[in-house]
Amino acid sequence: MKINGTPYRSVWVNEKDGWSVHIFDQTRLPFALDVLQLTTPEQVAHAIKTMQVRGAPLIGAVAAYGLALALRTDSSDNALEQQAAMLAATRPTAINLRWAIERMLTHLRPLTPAERVAAAYAEAGRICDEDAAQNEAIGQHGLELLRTLAAQRGKNDKINILTHCNAGWIATVDWGTALAPIYMAHDEGLNVHVWVDETRPRNQGAALTAWELGSHGVPHTVIADNAGGHLMQHGLVDIVIVGTDRVTRNADVANKIGTYLKALAARDNGVPFWVALPSTTIDWQVADGVREIPIEERSGTEITHISGRDDNGQISRVQITPDGSTAANPAFDVTPARLVTGLITEKGCCAATPEGLLSLFPEQG
Ligand code: MRU
Repeated sequence: MKINGTPYRSVWVNEKDGWSVHIFDQTRLPFALDVLQLTTPEQVAHAIKTMQVRGAPLIGAVAAYGLALALRTDSSDNALEQQAAMLAATRPTAINLRWAIERMLTHLRPLTPAERVAAAYAEAGRICDEDAAQNEAIGQHGLELLRTLAAQRGKNDKINILTHCNAGWIATVDWGTALAPIYMAHDEGLNVHVWVDETRPRNQGAALTAWELGSHGVPHTVIADNAGGHLMQHGLVDIVIVGTDRVTRNADVANKIGTYLKALAARDNGVPFWVALPSTTIDWQVADGVREIPIEERSGTEITHISGRDDNGQISRVQITPDGSTAANPAFDVTPARLVTGLITEKGCCAATPEGLLSLFPEQG
């Protein structure tokens, strides 16, 4: 994607800079576009835990580079296993993280220590290239859905899309998942408008999705997380498209906390609810998402405090709850497959059923 006309990915390596890894510090957006240089696996782990880098596909890609950084210091068998385990433990819900680490281990274990550093950078690079290509394909398949809506409505009628959290290019290596079809629809002249859930407590919608869409010129409106049901009741949402952190083989969908409530409201109002994902987000080992997907519990301070820019242009953090109130902060929820209209993958769209998934990925049968 482009920022001020310059194409960027969300992670890149600078060979001239000692092969360090670069990301945008997402905790600084939308008020500053700061690049972070990561030179050690500990810095990578810290960036993932604190959500300087986030989004299921992107944390997988960055962790893969984290392993490459680790091997520069010690490429022994022991170090490989230990550093892989350390990086995989940074966040529990998104399966892409474990998928990327497993793929790196499978590639690197048979090699000699001397071969591993170059091979790790090359494999992490392939993971990035594949993610960008998969998301572009997701965009093309999702675009068909939006074209169909546009055709049903009359070419110039507005198509209102609701999205939750951030599943845009900054959550992936490039393009995004849920936002990829929206960018493509906007670029080909469809009249799309996006309702952006603010996505408390970390405000990925208000801070990141709104910033991305605005940078690309896509019309959008930020709404309180609780507004979606009301908008659907009044015919103001034509389709919901969200990303996901893990889809089970039964097609249950883990995504940012609050996604389930949007799916319930969508079902009650007859609004199609679609989930966009690369196949790296499917956990074929797990069937029942509600029982089996580990849900990250984050610090209660993300609920009790909020950050933003004050009227003097300074970033401030303020408390919004009474002293002494405790806070619980489950970061994800699971939307059962029965509430999902369909899945948009790089292989095409399918029903949110085991059969639907297997029709696109028969090798998993
Ligand atoms: O906690 P986050 O910000 O990493 O959560 C991100 C999401 O829930 C996204 O919707 C999901 O990772 C899909 S990103 C293409």
